[in-house]
Amino acid sequence: MPVWPATAEHITQAADRIRAGGLVAFPTETVYGLGANALNAQAVEKIFIAKGRPSFNPVIVHVADVEQARGLTRDWTPSADKLAAAYWPGPLTLVLRRSPVIPDNVTAGGDTVGIRCPNHPIARELIRRSGVPIAAPSANKSSELSPTRAGHVVKAFGDSIVILDGGPCSIGIESTVVDVSGPEVQILRSGLITPGMIRECVGPITTPRESAILRSPGMLKKHYAPRTRVELHTRHQQALRAQARYANEGKTAIIITLGVGEPGSEEYILPDDPSTYARQLYSTLHAIDEAGADVILVVLPPDRPEWQAVRDRLIRAAAMDDPVAESGHTGSDSA
Ligand code: TXA
Ligand code: MG
Repeated sequence: MPVWPATAEHITQAADRIRAGGLVAFPTETVYGLGANALNAQAVEKIFIAKGRPSFNPVIVHVADVEQARGLTRDWTPSADKLAAAYWPGPLTLVLRRSPVIPDNVTAGGDTVGIRCPNHPIARELIRRSGVPIAAPSANKSSELSPTRAGHVVKAFGDSIVILDGGPCSIGIESTVVDVSGPEVQILRSGLITPGMIRECVGPITTPRESAILRSPGMLKKHYAPRTRVELHTRHQQALRAQARYANEGKTAIIITLGVGEPGSEEYILPDDPSTYARQLYSTLHAIDEAGADVILVVLPPDRPEWQAVRDRLIRAAAMDDPVAESGHTGSDSA
Protein backbone atom coordinates (compact mmCIF):
# COMPACT_ATOMS: atom_id res chain seq x y z
CA MET A 1 0.00 0.00 0.00
CA PRO A 2 1.88 3.12 -1.12
CA VAL A 3 -0.55 5.73 0.26
CA TRP A 4 -0.49 5.87 4.04
CA PRO A 5 -3.07 7.84 6.03
CA ALA A 6 -0.92 10.16 8.17
CA THR A 7 -1.55 8.54 11.54
CA ALA A 8 1.03 8.92 14.33
CA GLU A 9 2.11 5.33 13.71
CA HIS A 10 2.61 5.88 9.96
CA ILE A 11 4.53 9.10 10.53
CA THR A 12 6.85 7.18 12.88
CA GLN A 13 7.34 4.46 10.25
CA ALA A 14 7.98 7.11 7.60
CA ALA A 15 10.56 8.77 9.86
CA ASP A 16 12.28 5.39 10.28
CA ARG A 17 12.46 5.09 6.50
CA ILE A 18 14.01 8.55 6.19
CA ARG A 19 16.62 7.73 8.85
CA ALA A 20 17.37 4.41 7.10
CA GLY A 21 18.18 6.27 3.84
CA GLY A 22 14.85 5.71 2.08
CA LEU A 23 12.40 8.04 0.33
CA VAL A 24 9.03 9.25 1.59
CA ALA A 25 6.59 11.62 -0.13
CA PHE A 26 4.85 13.94 2.33
CA PRO A 27 2.48 16.90 2.33
CA THR A 28 3.53 20.47 2.95
CA GLU A 29 1.33 23.56 2.82
CA THR A 30 2.67 24.41 -0.67
CA VAL A 31 2.97 21.10 -2.58
CA TYR A 32 3.91 17.49 -1.76
CA GLY A 33 7.64 16.88 -1.36
CA LEU A 34 9.77 13.81 -2.10
CA GLY A 35 11.92 13.54 1.00
CA ALA A 36 15.23 11.97 1.99
CA ASN A 37 17.75 12.45 4.81
CA ALA A 38 19.50 15.67 3.74
CA LEU A 39 22.73 14.63 5.49
CA ASN A 40 23.01 11.36 3.54
CA ALA A 41 24.33 11.78 -0.03
CA GLN A 42 23.23 8.29 -1.12
CA ALA A 43 19.68 8.91 0.11
CA VAL A 44 19.58 12.27 -1.71
CA GLU A 45 20.86 10.56 -4.86
CA LYS A 46 17.70 8.40 -4.83
CA ILE A 47 15.61 11.59 -5.19
CA PHE A 48 17.50 12.62 -8.33
CA ILE A 49 17.11 9.14 -9.82
CA ALA A 50 13.39 8.83 -8.99
CA LYS A 51 12.60 12.27 -10.44
CA GLY A 52 14.93 12.14 -13.42
CA ARG A 53 16.21 15.45 -12.05
CA PRO A 54 19.32 16.96 -13.62
CA SER A 55 22.20 17.03 -11.13
CA PHE A 56 22.67 20.80 -11.64
CA ASN A 57 19.33 21.57 -9.93
CA PRO A 58 19.78 21.97 -6.15
CA VAL A 59 17.27 20.60 -3.62
CA ILE A 60 15.55 22.45 -0.77
CA VAL A 61 16.26 21.23 2.78
CA HIS A 62 13.32 21.20 5.20
CA VAL A 63 13.90 21.93 8.88
CA ALA A 64 11.87 22.02 12.10
CA ASP A 65 13.05 25.44 13.28
CA VAL A 66 15.58 28.27 12.93
CA GLU A 67 18.09 26.55 15.17
CA GLN A 68 18.25 23.49 12.90
CA ALA A 69 18.54 25.81 9.89
CA ARG A 70 21.47 27.70 11.39
CA GLY A 71 23.31 24.41 11.87
CA LEU A 72 23.20 23.85 8.10
CA THR A 73 24.69 27.23 7.19
CA ARG A 74 28.06 28.93 7.52
CA ASP A 75 26.75 32.44 7.63
CA TRP A 76 23.24 33.09 8.96
CA THR A 77 22.69 36.67 7.75
CA PRO A 78 20.60 39.47 9.32
CA SER A 79 18.20 39.28 6.36
CA ALA A 80 17.73 35.56 7.00
CA ASP A 81 17.03 36.33 10.62
CA LYS A 82 14.35 38.89 9.81
CA LEU A 83 12.65 36.83 7.11
CA ALA A 84 12.64 33.64 9.20
CA ALA A 85 11.19 35.55 12.16
CA ALA A 86 8.43 36.98 9.96
CA TYR A 87 7.52 34.03 7.71
CA TRP A 88 8.68 30.73 9.23
CA PRO A 89 7.15 28.28 9.49
CA GLY A 90 5.75 29.05 6.04
CA PRO A 91 6.09 29.08 2.25
CA LEU A 92 9.49 30.78 2.11
CA THR A 93 12.84 29.20 1.16
CA LEU A 94 16.02 31.01 2.22
CA VAL A 95 19.23 30.49 0.24
CA LEU A 96 22.35 30.79 2.42
CA ARG A 97 25.99 29.74 2.40
CA ARG A 98 26.11 26.07 3.27
CA SER A 99 27.83 24.27 6.08
CA PRO A 100 30.17 21.36 5.20
CA VAL A 101 27.63 18.93 6.73
CA ILE A 102 25.47 19.37 3.61
CA PRO A 103 26.39 16.86 0.87
CA ASP A 104 27.38 18.20 -2.55
CA ASN A 105 24.41 16.75 -4.41
CA VAL A 106 21.94 18.72 -2.25
CA THR A 107 23.42 22.01 -3.43
CA ALA A 108 24.29 20.79 -6.95
CA GLY A 109 27.92 21.43 -6.06
CA GLY A 110 27.26 25.09 -5.25
CA ASP A 111 28.27 27.06 -2.19
CA THR A 112 24.69 27.79 -1.06
CA VAL A 113 21.81 25.74 0.32
CA GLY A 114 18.07 26.46 0.15
CA ILE A 115 16.32 25.93 3.50
CA ARG A 116 12.64 26.00 4.39
CA CYS A 117 10.70 25.46 7.59
CA PRO A 118 7.30 24.24 6.37
CA ASN A 119 4.05 25.06 8.12
CA HIS A 120 2.24 21.75 7.88
CA PRO A 121 1.65 19.57 10.94
CA ILE A 122 2.51 16.31 9.14
CA ALA A 123 5.71 17.71 7.59
CA ARG A 124 6.77 19.16 10.92
CA GLU A 125 6.09 15.94 12.78
CA LEU A 126 7.98 13.93 10.16
CA ILE A 127 11.04 16.19 10.44
CA ARG A 128 10.97 16.09 14.25
CA ARG A 129 10.62 12.31 14.42
CA SER A 130 13.30 11.75 11.77
CA GLY A 131 15.73 13.81 13.82
CA VAL A 132 17.42 14.96 10.59
CA PRO A 133 16.77 17.74 8.07
CA ILE A 134 14.81 16.46 5.06
CA ALA A 135 15.88 17.26 1.50
CA ALA A 136 12.73 17.44 -0.63
CA PRO A 137 11.97 18.76 -4.08
CA SER A 138 8.36 18.67 -5.25
CA ALA A 139 7.20 15.04 -5.63
CA ASN A 140 6.83 15.02 -9.42
CA LYS A 141 8.99 13.88 -12.32
CA SER A 142 11.45 16.57 -13.36
CA SER A 143 9.83 19.56 -15.18
CA GLU A 144 6.30 18.17 -14.72
CA LEU A 145 3.46 19.56 -12.62
CA SER A 146 3.88 19.68 -8.85
CA PRO A 147 1.50 17.49 -6.83
CA THR A 148 -1.05 19.07 -4.50
CA ARG A 149 -2.74 15.77 -3.53
CA ALA A 150 -1.48 12.27 -2.71
CA GLY A 151 -3.16 10.95 -5.88
CA HIS A 152 -0.97 13.26 -8.01
CA VAL A 153 2.13 11.64 -6.49
CA VAL A 154 0.77 8.17 -7.25
CA LYS A 155 0.21 9.28 -10.85
CA ALA A 156 3.89 10.24 -11.14
CA PHE A 157 5.55 7.35 -9.29
CA GLY A 158 3.04 4.48 -9.19
CA ASP A 159 3.44 2.41 -6.05
CA SER A 160 7.23 2.64 -5.95
CA ILE A 161 7.19 5.32 -3.24
CA VAL A 162 5.53 5.56 0.18
CA ILE A 163 3.25 8.60 0.42
CA LEU A 164 1.93 10.14 3.63
CA ASP A 165 -1.54 11.39 2.72
CA GLY A 166 -2.37 14.79 4.20
CA GLY A 167 -5.20 15.71 1.84
CA PRO A 168 -5.04 18.69 -0.53
CA CYS A 169 -2.33 21.34 0.02
CA SER A 170 -3.69 24.65 1.29
CA ILE A 171 -1.40 26.96 -0.74
CA GLY A 172 -1.01 24.90 -3.89
CA ILE A 173 2.04 26.52 -5.50
CA GLU A 174 5.69 26.23 -4.51
CA SER A 175 7.45 28.43 -1.95
CA THR A 176 9.00 31.79 -2.67
CA VAL A 177 12.79 31.30 -2.97
CA VAL A 178 14.94 34.20 -1.73
CA ASP A 179 18.71 34.47 -1.85
CA VAL A 180 19.84 36.01 1.44
CA SER A 181 23.40 34.72 1.29
CA GLY A 182 24.94 38.11 0.57
CA PRO A 183 24.25 41.81 1.12
CA GLU A 184 21.84 41.97 -1.83
CA VAL A 185 18.55 40.14 -1.27
CA GLN A 186 17.19 38.59 -4.45
CA ILE A 187 14.00 36.70 -5.24
CA LEU A 188 14.79 33.59 -7.29
CA ARG A 189 11.26 32.19 -7.52
CA SER A 190 7.99 34.00 -6.84
CA GLY A 191 5.37 32.60 -4.50
CA LEU A 192 2.72 33.50 -1.98
CA ILE A 193 5.23 35.59 0.00
CA THR A 194 5.37 38.60 -2.34
CA PRO A 195 8.20 41.04 -3.13
CA GLY A 196 6.28 43.66 -1.13
CA MET A 197 6.22 41.45 1.96
CA ILE A 198 9.95 40.77 1.67
CA ARG A 199 10.80 44.43 1.08
CA GLU A 200 8.83 45.37 4.17
CA CYS A 201 11.11 43.06 6.14
CA VAL A 202 14.57 43.68 4.68
CA GLY A 203 14.40 46.83 2.52
CA PRO A 204 15.21 47.04 -1.21
CA ILE A 205 15.47 43.78 -3.14
CA THR A 206 16.08 42.50 -6.66
CA THR A 207 13.13 40.76 -8.32
CA PRO A 208 12.96 38.67 -11.49
CA ARG A 209 11.75 40.68 -14.48
CA GLU A 210 8.54 39.05 -15.61
CA SER A 211 8.16 41.50 -18.48
CA ALA A 212 11.41 40.21 -19.96
CA ILE A 213 10.24 36.63 -19.55
CA LEU A 214 6.92 37.42 -21.21
CA ARG A 215 8.61 38.99 -24.19
CA SER A 216 10.59 35.86 -24.95
CA PRO A 217 8.91 32.80 -23.50
CA GLY A 218 11.03 30.63 -25.80
CA MET A 219 14.04 31.50 -23.66
CA LEU A 220 12.49 29.66 -20.78
CA LYS A 221 12.89 26.00 -20.10
CA LYS A 222 9.53 24.37 -19.74
CA HIS A 223 8.67 23.85 -16.07
CA TYR A 224 5.67 23.27 -13.83
CA ALA A 225 4.00 21.96 -16.96
CA PRO A 226 1.08 19.60 -17.51
CA ARG A 227 1.44 16.96 -20.22
CA THR A 228 -1.20 18.78 -22.27
CA ARG A 229 0.11 21.76 -24.27
CA VAL A 230 -0.67 25.16 -22.72
CA GLU A 231 -1.49 28.27 -24.78
CA LEU A 232 -1.77 31.70 -23.14
CA HIS A 233 -4.41 34.30 -23.97
CA THR A 234 -4.98 37.74 -22.52
CA ARG A 235 -8.77 37.85 -22.98
CA HIS A 236 -11.60 35.39 -22.59
CA GLN A 237 -13.01 36.28 -26.03
CA GLN A 238 -9.65 35.45 -27.59
CA ALA A 239 -9.61 32.05 -25.88
CA LEU A 240 -13.17 31.32 -27.05
CA ARG A 241 -12.20 32.10 -30.66
CA ALA A 242 -9.16 29.84 -30.38
CA GLN A 243 -11.35 27.11 -28.92
CA ALA A 244 -13.70 27.34 -31.90
CA ARG A 245 -10.76 27.12 -34.32
CA TYR A 246 -9.48 23.99 -32.57
CA ALA A 247 -12.98 22.48 -32.66
CA ASN A 248 -13.01 23.00 -36.45
CA GLU A 249 -9.83 20.96 -36.63
CA GLY A 250 -11.48 18.23 -34.55
CA LYS A 251 -9.39 19.08 -31.47
CA THR A 252 -10.50 19.49 -27.87
CA ALA A 253 -9.38 22.75 -26.26
CA ILE A 254 -10.17 23.36 -22.59
CA ILE A 255 -10.29 26.95 -21.31
CA ILE A 256 -9.12 28.02 -17.85
CA THR A 257 -10.37 31.48 -17.07
CA LEU A 258 -11.10 33.43 -13.90
CA GLY A 259 -14.09 35.20 -12.51
CA VAL A 260 -17.61 34.09 -11.79
CA GLY A 261 -20.25 32.32 -13.83
CA GLU A 262 -21.34 28.94 -15.03
CA PRO A 263 -18.45 26.97 -16.47
CA GLY A 264 -19.18 25.34 -19.81
CA SER A 265 -18.34 21.69 -20.35
CA GLU A 266 -14.98 22.68 -21.82
CA GLU A 267 -14.20 25.52 -19.45
CA TYR A 268 -12.91 25.87 -15.90
CA ILE A 269 -13.59 29.12 -14.05
CA LEU A 270 -11.11 29.67 -11.20
CA PRO A 271 -11.75 32.25 -8.46
CA ASP A 272 -10.79 35.87 -9.11
CA ASP A 273 -8.54 35.83 -6.06
CA PRO A 274 -4.83 34.97 -6.26
CA SER A 275 -4.56 32.64 -3.28
CA THR A 276 -7.69 30.60 -4.01
CA TYR A 277 -6.73 30.49 -7.68
CA ALA A 278 -3.27 29.20 -6.70
CA ARG A 279 -4.78 26.55 -4.44
CA GLN A 280 -6.85 25.15 -7.34
CA LEU A 281 -4.46 25.67 -10.26
CA TYR A 282 -2.37 22.48 -10.25
CA SER A 283 -5.29 20.15 -9.45
CA THR A 284 -7.18 21.73 -12.36
CA LEU A 285 -4.22 21.12 -14.69
CA HIS A 286 -3.83 17.56 -13.37
CA ALA A 287 -7.57 16.95 -14.01
CA ILE A 288 -7.36 18.25 -17.59
CA ASP A 289 -4.32 16.02 -18.20
CA GLU A 290 -6.34 13.03 -17.03
CA ALA A 291 -9.33 13.92 -19.17
CA GLY A 292 -7.04 13.95 -22.22
CA ALA A 293 -7.57 17.29 -24.01
CA ASP A 294 -5.42 18.45 -26.96
CA VAL A 295 -4.66 21.91 -25.62
CA ILE A 296 -5.30 24.10 -22.57
CA LEU A 297 -6.20 27.73 -23.30
CA VAL A 298 -5.34 29.83 -20.27
CA VAL A 299 -6.72 33.34 -19.88
CA LEU A 300 -3.88 35.03 -17.98
CA PRO A 301 -4.80 36.85 -14.75
CA PRO A 302 -3.98 40.59 -14.77
CA ASP A 303 -0.39 41.81 -14.66
CA ARG A 304 -0.53 42.98 -11.06
CA PRO A 305 1.83 42.19 -8.15
CA GLU A 306 -0.64 39.97 -6.29
CA TRP A 307 -0.91 37.71 -9.37
CA GLN A 308 2.83 37.50 -10.05
CA ALA A 309 3.40 33.98 -8.68
CA VAL A 310 0.42 32.50 -10.51
CA ARG A 311 1.39 34.23 -13.77
CA ASP A 312 4.97 32.96 -13.38
CA ARG A 313 3.74 29.33 -13.14
CA LEU A 314 1.36 29.74 -16.10
CA ILE A 315 4.03 31.34 -18.29
CA ARG A 316 6.48 28.55 -17.47
CA ALA A 317 3.82 25.91 -18.12
CA ALA A 318 3.39 27.36 -21.62
CA ALA A 319 7.13 27.71 -22.31
CA MET A 320 8.77 25.65 -25.02
CA ASP A 321 10.54 22.42 -24.27
CA ASP A 322 13.72 23.33 -26.06
CA PRO A 323 14.67 27.01 -26.15
CA VAL A 324 17.45 26.39 -28.69
CA ALA A 325 15.02 24.88 -31.19
CA GLU A 326 12.76 27.91 -30.71
CA SER A 327 15.49 30.49 -31.22
CA GLY A 328 15.91 29.74 -34.89
CA HIS A 329 19.58 28.72 -34.62
CA THR A 330 20.60 25.67 -36.56
CA GLY A 331 23.82 23.93 -37.39
CA SER A 332 24.97 22.85 -33.94
CA ASP A 333 24.67 19.25 -35.14
CA SER A 334 26.71 19.80 -38.31
CA ALA A 335 29.87 18.18 -36.92
O1 TXA B 1 7.29 24.75 -1.82
C1 TXA B 1 8.37 24.23 -2.11
O2 TXA B 1 9.43 24.87 -2.18
C2 TXA B 1 8.36 22.71 -2.39
C3 TXA B 1 8.03 21.97 -1.10
C4 TXA B 1 8.17 20.48 -1.24
O3 TXA B 1 8.83 22.47 -0.07
N1 TXA B 1 9.63 22.32 -2.91
C5 TXA B 1 10.04 22.62 -4.16
O4 TXA B 1 11.27 22.09 -4.49
O5 TXA B 1 9.38 23.29 -4.94
P1 TXA B 1 11.83 22.03 -5.99
O6 TXA B 1 13.09 21.28 -5.90
O7 TXA B 1 10.78 21.49 -6.87
O8 TXA B 1 12.16 23.51 -6.32
C6 TXA B 1 13.22 24.12 -5.62
C7 TXA B 1 13.67 25.36 -6.31
C8 TXA B 1 14.36 25.04 -7.60
O9 TXA B 1 14.02 25.99 -8.56
C9 TXA B 1 15.83 25.14 -7.22
O10 TXA B 1 16.63 25.46 -8.31
C10 TXA B 1 15.80 26.23 -6.15
O11 TXA B 1 14.59 26.03 -5.47
N2 TXA B 1 16.92 26.09 -5.22
C11 TXA B 1 17.13 25.14 -4.30
N3 TXA B 1 18.32 25.31 -3.68
C12 TXA B 1 18.87 26.40 -4.22
C13 TXA B 1 20.10 27.10 -4.04
N4 TXA B 1 21.02 26.69 -3.18
N5 TXA B 1 20.33 28.19 -4.80
C14 TXA B 1 19.42 28.59 -5.69
N6 TXA B 1 18.25 27.99 -5.93
C15 TXA B 1 17.98 26.91 -5.21
MG1 MG C 1 9.69 21.21 -8.48
